[in-house]
Amino acid sequence: MAIRPLIAGNWKMNGLGADGLALAQVIAERLRGGGAGLAELLLCPPATLVRAVAETVSGSDVLVGGQDCHAKSSGAHTGDVSAEMLADAGARYVIVGHSERRADHGEKDATVRAKAEAAHRAGLIAIICIGETEAERDRGATLDVVGRQLAGSLPDQAKAANTVVAYEPVWAIGTGRTPTTAEVAEVHKFLRERLTARYEDGGRFRLLYGGSVKPENARELLAVADVNGALVGGASLKADSFWAIATACA
Ligand code: PGA
Repeated sequence: MAIRPLIAGNWKMNGLGADGLALAQVIAERLRGGGAGLAELLLCPPATLVRAVAETVSGSDVLVGGQDCHAKSSGAHTGDVSAEMLADAGARYVIVGHSERRADHGEKDATVRAKAEAAHRAGLIAIICIGETEAERDRGATLDVVGRQLAGSLPDQAKAANTVVAYEPVWAIGTGRTPTTAEVAEVHKFLRERLTARYEDGGRFRLLYGGSVKPENARELLAVADVNGALVGGASLKADSFWAIATACA
């Protein structure tokens, strides 16, 4: 059975009430009208909007996710949000280990793994991000780096049903640059092999590509073997571009 693609919009630190809800509303309406093929659509707004976006899209098949969670379910962690809180607000997914979290907050693989475990405890699907920097690619270390991140960031108990892996080359995020389809294929094949070696259902984990996915390149990136969807940043902030990507894998 084919893996159902996932198109996830990562709004990052963007979106105030009115605009964010209007965007979510348009996506939900278009999906209700049909046309997104077999892709599952996910919106990951900032934490302040998770509940309102979940309410806005309810009754459609659009799903909602957080962008990060704490490894603990509650406690003295000022400013943090737990996976339980996201689930309570209507989230079904949470992104963990995004390269911006790794860079801005010094998150290491062990932290990312603990966050993914927290997501699983709360009944959320974790989207675990990995990817090499430009310097690492230039010195030919891409597979070493993503292999190490994959090994360290995924819980041993992960399953295809609760874990998605997003390959996002750091140098492709927000830059308009993307790897060639051959480079994406090489990494995804490698990740698939590692997942299959480690997990009984490793062949069924969804593997997303992320980094400068746009309407212009979505079709060719989504057609690469073992690319089961996309994690979209900038292009998810406009209904037309996100929708164009969502329908590109039909
Ligand atoms: P981008 O971001 O699509 O703006 O490159 C992707 C991401 O960081 O998830």
